[in-house]
Amino acid sequence: MRTFNVTGLCVPDKHYMADISGKLAKIREMIDRGDYFTINRARQYGKSTTLLLLARALAKEHTCISLSFVGIGTTIFASSASFCQRFLLHISKALESADEDFAAQWEDATVTDFDLLGYHIDKLCNGRKIILMIDEVDKASGNEAFLHFLGMLRSKYLAKQAGAANAFHSVVLAGVYDIRNIKQKMISEGAYTPADMEHKLYNSPWNIAADFKVDMSFNPAEIATMLKNMKQTITQAWISRSLLTRYTALQADIRSWYRGSANALIRSPKKAGRSMASRKL
Ligand SMILES: Nc1ncnc2c1ncn2[C@@H]1O[C@H](COP(=O)(O)OP(=O)(O)OP(=O)(O)O)[C@@H](O)[C@H]1O
Ligand SMILES: [Mg+2]
Repeated sequence: MRTFNVTGLCVPDKHYMADISGKLAKIREMIDRGDYFTINRARQYGKSTTLLLLARALAKEHTCISLSFVGIGTTIFASSASFCQRFLLHISKALESADEDFAAQWEDATVTDFDLLGYHIDKLCNGRKIILMIDEVDKASGNEAFLHFLGMLRSKYLAKQAGAANAFHSVVLAGVYDIRNIKQKMISEGAYTPADMEHKLYNSPWNIAADFKVDMSFNPAEIATMLKNMKQTITQAWISRSLLTRYTALQADIRSWYRGSANALIRSPKKAGRSMASRKL
C-alpha cells in the first residue's frame, strides 16, 4: 500500500503523489529543444522527484544519464584528472543497466583533463541524443574542477550550436543556488583566483543556460489529484475491511449452524437430517 511521504524523493509506486505531468511537459519542451539549464529552487521543492520522473519518461526514447553529487565526496574535485575519471565512471555506472556495451565505452583512462573529456563526449554523443541530468550540484560549488567542467559543457554547447561538434543534447542541473553566479561567488569567497583577462570579463561558465521559468510549487489542481488518490485507497481499505467483517460473521454463522445441527443429530437423527437437507446457506 502506498504511503504519504514527507522526506526525500517521492516514488510513484510507493507514495501518494501530486500529478505534476503539466510541469514535466513544460520541462520536456526545454529538453527537446536542446536547452542547457538549472532547476534551482529551495530545499524540498520536489527537484529530485521531478528529475526522477523526467528520467523515467525520457529513457523510453533517449539515452538519459542521471547523476547526483550527493554523497560523492571530495576526492572527485581534487584535480581535473580525478574529476574527469570519476565523472566517466559515474556515467558508466548510470548507463550499465540500460546498455552495458555503451556504458563500458565511457570509461577511458586516457581522459585526464577537460579538453580530452570534451573530445570523449563529442565521440560518444555522435549520432545519439543523450540527456545529462545532475542533481545536488550545490555539493560541487566551491570547487575549481566543477567550474572548469561547466566551462567545458558551455564550450561543447556552443560548438554544437555552430554545428562544429557533438555534445549532450540537453543538460539539466538541479540545486538550491543559481550556479550562473557560482564564479562570482567563488571569487568573492576567495575560493577561485581568475586569470587576468578572465578577471575583467567575469564570464559565467554557465551563461549559456536557458532561464528556468516553470512554476515548481504545487497548484490546487495538482494537490487535488493526490487527495483523490488517497481517498480512493481509503475507500478501498474500508470496503475490504467491511468485506472481511461480513465474511467473519458468515463463518461464525456456519460454525454455529453446524454445531446446532450436530447436537440435533445426536438428539434426533431423522429430524436433524430432514432439517439439514432443507437448509440453504
Ligand atoms: N509530486 C509530488 N507529490 C507529492 N509530494 C511531493 C512530490 N514531489 C515532492 N513532494 C514532496 O516534497 C518532498 C521533497 O521532494 P524532493 O526530495 O524531490 O525535493 P528536493 O527539492 O529534491 O529536496 P532537496 O532540496 O532537499 O533535495 C517529498 O518528500 C514530498 O513530501
Ligand atoms: Mg533533492
